[in-house]
Amino acid sequence: MPENQKTEELKKIRDEILALKESPLYEYRTDNKYFPVIGEGSHDAHLMFVGEAPGENEAKTARPFCGRAGKVLDRLLESIGMDRKSVYVTNLVKDRPPGNRDPEPAEIALYGPFLDRQIALMKPRVIATLGRHSMKYIFEKYGLGAVLQPVSKIHGKEFKGTAPYGEVTVVALYHPAVALYNGSMLEDMTEDFKILKKYI
Ligand code: URA
Repeated sequence: MPENQKTEELKKIRDEILALKESPLYEYRTDNKYFPVIGEGSHDAHLMFVGEAPGENEAKTARPFCGRAGKVLDRLLESIGMDRKSVYVTNLVKDRPPGNRDPEPAEIALYGPFLDRQIALMKPRVIATLGRHSMKYIFEKYGLGAVLQPVSKIHGKEFKGTAPYGEVTVVALYHPAVALYNGSMLEDMTEDFKILKKYI
């Protein structure tokens, strides 16, 4: 697809999400002067990270992973010589759920197709999920439902999924916020990131 067409399609996705009045999170967004978080990074990245949903810092700034968990993500990227500019970072749910509660099934059903469209346009070779909900969504979407297990069992392993544009490698990672509650996890998380190195 020509670059300008891809950019146009991505803008369309952004505009549709901005106007998503039917979302159960829309009123919470506007009442709090929040923004949806569409995603950030290179549109040509081989590697896409998919988090769960924006937190407060993200909803205030429209930027994914810009709070404390984001600092952990930056550190993990740095450990393999990568930075935000060389990857694409987005979330499954694009608006902040109240009080950072887990996204509800209806919200995942509403926002998931926007993520599907971002993936179909950007065609990443690797999708790294950050958190339980995005892991479940991506594994089930790309033909890996049968190998789905808790993240503690499958973190840092590569699985070959099937995307509309061909094979896609899927890697389930711990959510970066895990390291904020349990600092000793950082070592395992750093180890998991090494598998992404070959996709730089
Ligand atoms: N947690 C997420 O899952 N996504 C963000 O963008 C920030 C925190």
